[in-house]
Amino acid sequence: MSIKTAVLNGVATIEIARPEKKNALTQPMYTAMADALDAAADDPAVRAVLFTGQPGIFTSGNDIEDFAARGRSGGEGQGSGVIDSPVGRFLLTLARFPKPVVVAVTGAAIGIGTTMLLHSDLVYVSDEARLAMPFVSLGLVPEFASSLLVPQLMGGRRAAEKLLLGEPITPEQAVEFGLANAVIPAAEVVNHARRMAERFNALPPGAVREAKRLMRAPQRELVEQTIQAEGRIFGERLKTPEAMEAFMAFLQKRKPDFSKF
Ligand code: COA
Repeated sequence: MSIKTAVLNGVATIEIARPEKKNALTQPMYTAMADALDAAADDPAVRAVLFTGQPGIFTSGNDIEDFAARGRSGGEGQGSGVIDSPVGRFLLTLARFPKPVVVAVTGAAIGIGTTMLLHSDLVYVSDEARLAMPFVSLGLVPEFASSLLVPQLMGGRRAAEKLLLGEPITPEQAVEFGLANAVIPAAEVVNHARRMAERFNALPPGAVREAKRLMRAPQRELVEQTIQAEGRIFGERLKTPEAMEAFMAFLQKRKPDFSKF
């Protein structure tokens, strides 16, 4: 199973566990994560959710073979906000999740591995992690409201380096830009994030939920509209020759050639 879930001491852990493919996310994995979030929302014993990955890799983002297959078959789904598409359902479920979400970024966090942090509450990054949002390099566009939230967080100039050029983000920059709370030594990051998640056990859960809701309320509608708008363009982009060249180049382990477009 490539998503492992467990509930222990008030914390529902969602662990991405597909190390042989650098924790690349497939449609069934999005479904498993959305199911786990729904179960955690409904379980009164759960006070917080903890996302984690494997040592050295949080997630390499969406599975690129899956992107290529969806591009060939019509490109529906990615971030479209269509609740019955696995990735769309995951995006909206996390964006609307009522309880605190804590993330241990255990290593590289690419694509949705970085954009999901925008919708989480507490984020701890391994000192060996690298974050990146290389959507444009893949012929795609930013997703998960990152076209809205990244410029808000770090300013338009820096967002352009990260979203247009796809420049990596160091753990220290993640903290400086407000994407993460702290850089933690790799060997400690999961335990540290778990301890932070467990702190919600000592707090009144209703007040925590209301506070989170209020903190998100001013932008909630705009965030959801942006997720939908990005998703429509993303779905179109998946079908383009530019994107297909990028996917094939990755899978064939060569540099993409965009000179012909
Ligand atoms: N989708 C599908 N397969 C992926 C993948 C992804 N997102 N990321 C890694 N893999 C696969 C590789 O194809 C390789 O498979 P193979 O062993 O069958 O050849 C295996 O995982 C190991 O990956 P590799 O690239 O050799 O590992 P690395 O340690 O050199 O680099 C990454 C790790 C994460 C930096 C690199 O794999 C990467 O850049 N992945 C793609 C990230 C990306 O663009 N994601 C989409 C974001 S929208």
